[in-house]
Amino acid sequence: MQKGILETYRAFLPIEESTPMVSMGEGNTPLVKSVQLGKMLGCEELYFKLEGCNPTGSFKDRGMAMAVAKALESGSKAIMCASTGNTSASAAAYGGRFSISTVVVVPKGRIAAGKVTQAMAHSARIIMVDGSFDQALSLVRNFTDQHPITLVNSINPYRLEGQKTGAFEIVDDLGDSPDYLFIPTGNAGNITAYWKGFKEYHQAEMSRSLPKMMGFQAQGAAPIVLGHPVEDPKTVASAIRIGNPANWTAALSARDDSGGVIDKVSDDEILEAYELLASCEGIFCEPASAASFAGLRKLHAEGLDVSCRRVVCIITGTGLKDPDTAVERFIPEITEIGADPKDLEAALQSISEGGEGIG
Ligand code: F0G
Repeated sequence: MQKGILETYRAFLPIEESTPMVSMGEGNTPLVKSVQLGKMLGCEELYFKLEGCNPTGSFKDRGMAMAVAKALESGSKAIMCASTGNTSASAAAYGGRFSISTVVVVPKGRIAAGKVTQAMAHSARIIMVDGSFDQALSLVRNFTDQHPITLVNSINPYRLEGQKTGAFEIVDDLGDSPDYLFIPTGNAGNITAYWKGFKEYHQAEMSRSLPKMMGFQAQGAAPIVLGHPVEDPKTVASAIRIGNPANWTAALSARDDSGGVIDKVSDDEILEAYELLASCEGIFCEPASAASFAGLRKLHAEGLDVSCRRVVCIITGTGLKDPDTAVERFIPEITEIGADPKDLEAALQSISEGGEGIG
């Protein structure tokens, strides 16, 4: 039975006797070694951490398990979040499973279809704001300040506690920290959580080294890179379409303390990485998740030598979350045939003639 992060990393988490051991089998996600893209960059040891393999399809489940456990422990009757989609999907699922009312506040028309569907499936109360994620977050912060409802955005420290377990797993798998950790950056909770995790494991002598934290924002939504909030953030990567990150200062510390960078990648770079991951590695992620590998490709093109380096890219969510971008982007080669064996022979003739062979 898959244990879940609370049980696996109990010693490193704020768990008391009275904390319910909330779990949906989150964590323990695959760290997969690259077979093609690493070679293209001359990197012997490139790994992808597949956070889309969490129960609701994104890394948010790690933080949500911990946050919901603490909400239940404190006797809270409801949880609430603003979201670009994944947090709301995760909150809805854990809220439903552990019988705590869930309200999700999302920017109308700006979140991927799969994520709204998840919130609906788990019967969350859905509120759509005619505005941005940043405005939704501001509404939710205000409301939860004045009402006894638990905020489960990454301002809630328990979210980061849960998410730091991703760093523990990487060290457990590799035997040490990688040299570089590339990670998509939106509200900047995850980069903050990973850095916390790497530091705590290092302090506990579970690792010898610490990684450089390499955060990547989308070019049209890059407040941390620009050094000021972005009023109307724009990017195809809707999960990281954020103009005023809640964990801004902590992300700067992660960058500076680790000797890393927070940089930006264009939508074209994100979509190229999205396609390469799908076609060369078998990894179908959502666009925002490809920002990590897009960042690595960009820095490599600018001269970063990763030949003797161990690099991990966090792939934060599954591609099934955002079918619309996939359908627009992946031009299928579809041949329609009748149900006769000869039709299939004929349809595949060109492949065998081309020497590629089938079967
Ligand atoms: N990747 C995905 C797939 C995300 O959903 C998010 C954030 C990020 C990366 C960025 O992580 O915010 O910790 O820097 N999604 C949030 C949400 C904002 O509401 O689902 P971050």
